This record gives sequence, C-alpha cells and structure tokens, in this order.
Amino acid sequence: MIEARGITRTYASHGAFTGARTVQALRGVDFTLPAGGAVSFIGESGCGKTTLGKILTGLETFDGGELVVDGVELSRLKPRRRAEYFRRIQMIHQDPYSALNPTRPIEATLGAPLRMRARQTGADPAKWRERASELLTLVGLEPEAVLPKYPHQLSGGQRQRVVIARALTVDPQVLIADEAVSMIDVSMRLGILGLLRDLRSRLGISLVFITHDVATARYVGEGGELHVIYRGEVVERGLTDDVILTPVHPYTQCLLSAVPIMRGLEEPGPDRTAPTRALDERSPTPGCLFEPRCPFATEECFTTHPTLVPLDAGPASAARTGEAGAGTDTAANTDAETDTGAGTAEHQHACLHPQARRVVGVEIEVGAAST
Ligand SMILES: Nc1ncnc2c1ncn2[C@@H]1O[C@H](COP(=O)(O)OP(=O)(O)OP(=O)(O)O)[C@@H](O)[C@H]1O
Ligand code: SF4
Ligand SMILES: [Mg+2]
Repeated sequence: MIEARGITRTYASHGAFTGARTVQALRGVDFTLPAGGAVSFIGESGCGKTTLGKILTGLETFDGGELVVDGVELSRLKPRRRAEYFRRIQMIHQDPYSALNPTRPIEATLGAPLRMRARQTGADPAKWRERASELLTLVGLEPEAVLPKYPHQLSGGQRQRVVIARALTVDPQVLIADEAVSMIDVSMRLGILGLLRDLRSRLGISLVFITHDVATARYVGEGGELHVIYRGEVVERGLTDDVILTPVHPYTQCLLSAVPIMRGLEEPGPDRTAPTRALDERSPTPGCLFEPRCPFATEECFTTHPTLVPLDAGPASAARTGEAGAGTDTAANTDAETDTGAGTAEHQHACLHPQARRVVGVEIEVGAAST
C-alpha cells in the first residue's frame, strides 16, 4: 500500500550561534507498509520521525526518493490527484488539544469533514450525525455526551479519541500515529494504544507508529516491523520482536536499555549499554553516524559508512567504503537494499561490528556476524 524508497529531506537552518548549516532530517529511508500491516519507527528526539510522518501525509515535501501509494508514484501526479492519495493517509498528532479547534464543539469538528466526505462518495450529507455517532462509538466515546462539548470540556484521552474519530471521517486506509500518547495522562495511554491496535484488526487500517518508546511500538505494532532510526537513517529493522529480542546495533541496544519492554517489563537486565556521549550534530564523520557515541567504535567505523545488510552477513559486507559523506550516498543505500530484499521483514542492521549483547534481561546468543 505505501512504499517509501530512499526518502531524503534536508533542511537549511540558521542558528544565532551556529550560523547557516543544513540538517539532514532523513537520509534515504525505505519501507513497505502492506494493507492492514504496521511499521513502527523508533528513535530519539530529532532523528526525523515527525518529518517522515508529515511526508507520508503530504504535510511536508521531500527532496529525494519516491513515495508510492497503491502502486502510484505520487510525485508524478498533479496536486489535485495527489491530494486524493494523501486523503487515504491520516495523521494523529502528539497534542490532541492543539489538533482540535477550541472554539468549535465536537459536532462541528466531525460534521464538516463528514458532510464533505458524503458529497464525495454520493452518500447523504444530512446523515452526518449518524456517522459521527458511529465513529465516536467506535473510538470508545458516548456520542450524545461528547458531540455538544468543546475540546476543553474533555479529558486528554477523550480528546485524542475525538482526533482519531476525526481522522476516520475520511475513510483512511492508513493512520500515522506520531507519539500519539506522549501528551496523555499515563492512566489513559493504554486505552488509546489498545484503540489503535483495535482499528488495525477491526477495520484493516494500516498503521505507521512513530515513537521513542519501544514498549508501545511492540504493543501496537504487534506482528509488524520495527525500524530503528538514528539521525535520519534506519540502522536496524526487522520484525518487531526480532529486533527487540535480538538487537545487534549498538544504538538499538542503547534504546532498549533505556526503556522497559512490555514482556519483561520488570526485568531491565544487568548488562546494558549506554551512549557514551551526547548527540552532537555538528561533528559529522565520514563513517558511521553513531561513531561519536558508540562504545564499540573502531578506527574503521570512523572512515567507513555501514549500510543495511541481513543479520547473518559478515561485517565486511556491512561496509560501503565511505569516501562519500555519511548518509549522502542514497544510491548506494538503495542498491544494498535491493540486494537484500527491501520491504521484507528480514532482520537487517547497519553496523560494522554487530554483536548480540545481553539487554532487557533476556539471554541472547551472539549473532553469526559478531566480531
Ligand atoms: N521546518 C524545519 N526547519 C528546519 N529544521 C527542521 C524542520 N523540521 C524539522 N527540522 C529538523 O529536522 C530534524 C528532525 O526533526 P523531527 O521533528 O522530524 O524529529 P523527531 O524525531 O520527530 O523529534 P521529536 O522526537 O523531538 O519529536 C531535527 O534536527 C529538526 O530540528
Ligand atoms: S559501525 Fe562501529 S561505530 Fe557504528 S554502531 Fe557499529 S560498532 Fe558502533
Ligand atoms: Mg516528532
């Protein structure tokens, strides 16, 4: 349904102290989201998650790569036709309060898109209220109680459910949930996550789940893929459980050591790895992007940029000799992924010295590719 091939996005930024510079928010991201499937992206703040979500919903442009929806490459379409494809992909933002107009009651918030959608599909616009009630019930709200209210009269969890109902008014096939529960009271998070999971199974909606929280990615994206993104580059990916239970990239291991996992939540594990230094975007190396922070970096990591390879490939094949700057050689990235079957749930990593280490309290065997 959605195929992203080598998506890149570079921003020009002008800081008071840093001067003019460019930020590579995405460096050749590829993934395939099948109908009814789930792909989660995890990574720390600033790694490009929201940029990717916005690109997928047409709220942001990209400067390299291709976005294919239902077999159609979107950049070839005129804006009007492109909008029809983007209608199928709706985004749930982090902050449900700012996503809703505070001056409009919920009935107005849902009524307008429902009437418009009815006109597009040839249905009766006058029946919007029935459909609004149906959607509110679907997202676990009491229609009669909620429809006349204003956003400030609802709890954070209820607001986010309204936002989800509004996204559903246009019959989307894909929902992009960008940190959808991070601003909601902890007690209500599980309900929203359960709802997103439910929508997958009940309506067959596909999900792109964006988070910095491995546990929620595992819960919502069950059976789907997990992509670990570092400074705009995917450094490990595969079936969610494979990546979580056998993380081989040091960055993935850092993320897992920082966050509890649902199954084994109480067992954080004794042998954790942690970043040795804070993120410093001003010192790009020609080699591995994670090298300045990696506790296992070697000299080779400083000069050679690793690209995604299957877990059982030897370290030599993880390397693409890095005379090109880190992450700039999208073509090389794409070639490697063609070789290794992009879009499959094959467990892949981009590390010259991958090693299964003991994290999250489970004994993990040393991978075949370890050095
Ligand atoms: N409009 C913009 N102009 C300039 N730089 C931008 C813009 N949008 C994003 N960036 C930069 O791109 C990078 C990725 O930002 P993005 O918001 O996608 O990160 P994120 O992973 O969603 O972070 P967070 O977890 O904090 O939400 C950051 O370095 C950010 O500063
Ligand atoms: S390639 Fe080297 S620096 Fe990069 S993650 Fe692997 S060991 Fe660390
Ligand atoms: Mg974000």
